[in-house]
Amino acid sequence: MSQSLNFPRHGDKRNSDFFETFLKRLLEERDRVGLTKLIHEIDALMITVEPGHSIDYVAELCLMTPYHYMVTLESESHLTHVMRIDLNSPDILVREVKDPNIRGIFRSLNEVYPIGSYKPNSRYMGEVLRVTDLHSVVRLQREREFRFFSQDEIRRLELPGNLAVSKPSPYTHNIVAYLEREPDELRVYALGLSTIRGDVQEAYLAAKELQKRLRIDDLILPIDHLATRVYSQNREVAILEYLSWSSYYYWGSYDIKDQNSSTNVTKSVHHSRELRSPAKVFTANNTPYFVNHLEKLPSPTETFVRNYGPRLHHIAVAVCDGETDGQENIEYVVNAIRDQGKDFLLDVIGSKQQGLKQIFSSASEHSSLIIEYVQRFGDFDGFFAKDNVAELTRAAGVEEELLEMEAQSSSIAG
Ligand SMILES: [Fe+2]
Repeated sequence: MSQSLNFPRHGDKRNSDFFETFLKRLLEERDRVGLTKLIHEIDALMITVEPGHSIDYVAELCLMTPYHYMVTLESESHLTHVMRIDLNSPDILVREVKDPNIRGIFRSLNEVYPIGSYKPNSRYMGEVLRVTDLHSVVRLQREREFRFFSQDEIRRLELPGNLAVSKPSPYTHNIVAYLEREPDELRVYALGLSTIRGDVQEAYLAAKELQKRLRIDDLILPIDHLATRVYSQNREVAILEYLSWSSYYYWGSYDIKDQNSSTNVTKSVHHSRELRSPAKVFTANNTPYFVNHLEKLPSPTETFVRNYGPRLHHIAVAVCDGETDGQENIEYVVNAIRDQGKDFLLDVIGSKQQGLKQIFSSASEHSSLIIEYVQRFGDFDGFFAKDNVAELTRAAGVEEELLEMEAQSSSIAG
């Protein structure tokens, strides 16, 4: 059987005949033409924030995750901070737009959505995938009708010049970029002037000092998964499109009936450990919003997409299995961070018996992204407990309702 189809299927959500047919055809062809072999793990994530927010966001990530600040790439209208754990897990590039009046395609994607438009520059942009032979990968993808920004556009967008960058997906609004690199070569981003900025370094060192004092520095692991929310009708095409851009396979989908939603998981063909290359999860409502009044179904996922646009909803970070001071590590980490004034949307949910515990932070005021912590117990390698997902989805929806009400009242007042 073809390499990318040789994985067991999980989940209980049924897909359409279209999905099952083209899943097989697309992955077989991807393997046959060599793309699966040429495209490797997720090498970096790119996030843009509003003017004046990037240092605070770097500090927030340094406290809540294992990331370190490396260097800032300064270009004409952006600062791009490179954050890294090591070369065995993806970097995070935190981009700040310097001028609040700057306009562009990524800003436009936020501006048509009522809450998204509040922070027009704040957006998770997408992943950089490591490839061998960039030229061949781009040629093969172009032959399959996938589109890229031109070199000139990449320069004007102030993205690293050594990346090939896709046009945003019509389904997720995210981009995929390719970076050619051998595993033993350094990650280099060809952009602007590289400096270690004193103000960022100071915020970084303070956050790491606090992380150490709280004794959570050894407990938090790299990224486990990235969860994107899309419109209900785009669930299957968003998955198939991502599999076509990457070397991921379809792990399976769970129906979360309680929340009228499903969780759909894709993983790397090359790395079984998510910490090496995070799983990509797609969440979508089961039915579109306009039948809710007839079916009387809850709709937190579709409501999120209508408010923010399709986009990344959360970054899940793993917590190492074990206990600290008589508490499970996830409880210990969450309590320590909560004491520093960071809110969480609910209590830690799940149990050792179910195999994992999870929690959502409130959305970052800088990036609008939620951090999920997930602790797996023993040798549990499953992805979630259904009850957990229903509870997490519900809790995130409650906060979004409040934001939506705020957005409506200010637009009526304005
Ligand atoms: Fe998650």
